[in-house]
Amino acid sequence: MTSKPTLSIGLIGSGFMGKAHVFGFATAQKVFNLPANLKLHTLADIDKKTAEAAANEFGFANSTDDWRDIVQNSEIDIVDITAPNALHKEMALEAISAGKHVYCEKPLAPMISDAMEMADAAEKKSVKTQVGFNYLCNPMMRLAKEMIASGELGEIRSYRGIHAEDYMTNASDPFTFRHETAGGGALADLGSHALATAEFLLGEIVEVMGDCVNVIAERPCIDGKKKSVIVDDIGRAFLRFSNGATGYIEGNWVATGRKMQHDFEIHGSEG
Ligand SMILES: NC(=O)c1ccc[n+]([C@@H]2O[C@H](COP(=O)([O-])OP(=O)(O)OC[C@H]3O[C@@H](n4cnc5c(N)ncnc54)[C@H](O)[C@@H]3O)[C@@H](O)[C@H]2O)c1
Repeated sequence: MTSKPTLSIGLIGSGFMGKAHVFGFATAQKVFNLPANLKLHTLADIDKKTAEAAANEFGFANSTDDWRDIVQNSEIDIVDITAPNALHKEMALEAISAGKHVYCEKPLAPMISDAMEMADAAEKKSVKTQVGFNYLCNPMMRLAKEMIASGELGEIRSYRGIHAEDYMTNASDPFTFRHETAGGGALADLGSHALATAEFLLGEIVEVMGDCVNVIAERPCIDGKKKSVIVDDIGRAFLRFSNGATGYIEGNWVATGRKMQHDFEIHGSEG
């Protein structure tokens, strides 16, 4: 019997999504016959206390308050980035340059030019990458794509997609990285999921017309002072796909009553 190789993971960020990724690593090894064993090597967060507490809780062997320790560690194979959006680019580029495989949360970067730079760097270095578009990994998505490709729905005419949540509905909830001008806003946060699904199912988008709406203009900071918010709470876009279909997507984090709504509807000539 051949023994499996071990891949060592360095996780940057131990918040909501850091925990979700660790849950995924643990579950995947139990449920699937993975080609490699996964080792939780080092966890990095903003300060030593946070990193150490999370490393102990999640089962990482080491912790650090400097994410570069992960990137520069020759024992680590995969750098998993779950830090705030505006930090993704620097972390990913340094990890790629060190020859690490990179799993980076969405949105990849605040600007498309930054995301392209990251993708180009990964391609040049021949490292494996993955972006946190977890909905695309649902078998239901693959089935929908197959149904479209097989012609079962006929000629695809229209598409409607939405990702809606209510976690920013309350104006007294604090200012977070999601409200920063660099990388913030509902379109980046949730619209990126809606966009990924639309492109996965119907292919390339060739024309777009959008509207970004700010609903809550200021939020309290930790010190109690108010900070103005200029990013969108709702982002909407009309789309034209290269296959001739047209459609609409929305990212909305003030959708009162909605939790994790990731929906799409496709109309073809046959169904
Ligand atoms: N795929 C999804 O469905 C999904 C869902 C939620 C969030 N996300 C993405 O995950 C990322 C994190 O979101 P979250 O909700 O977990 O945020 P969060 O605030 O809960 O966690 C962010 C973590 O990063 C840490 N951090 C901040 N600066 C750091 C630094 N310089 N070095 C190391 N760690 C640092 C924070 O201390 C915190 O532990 C975002 O990019 C977000 O868009 C994806």
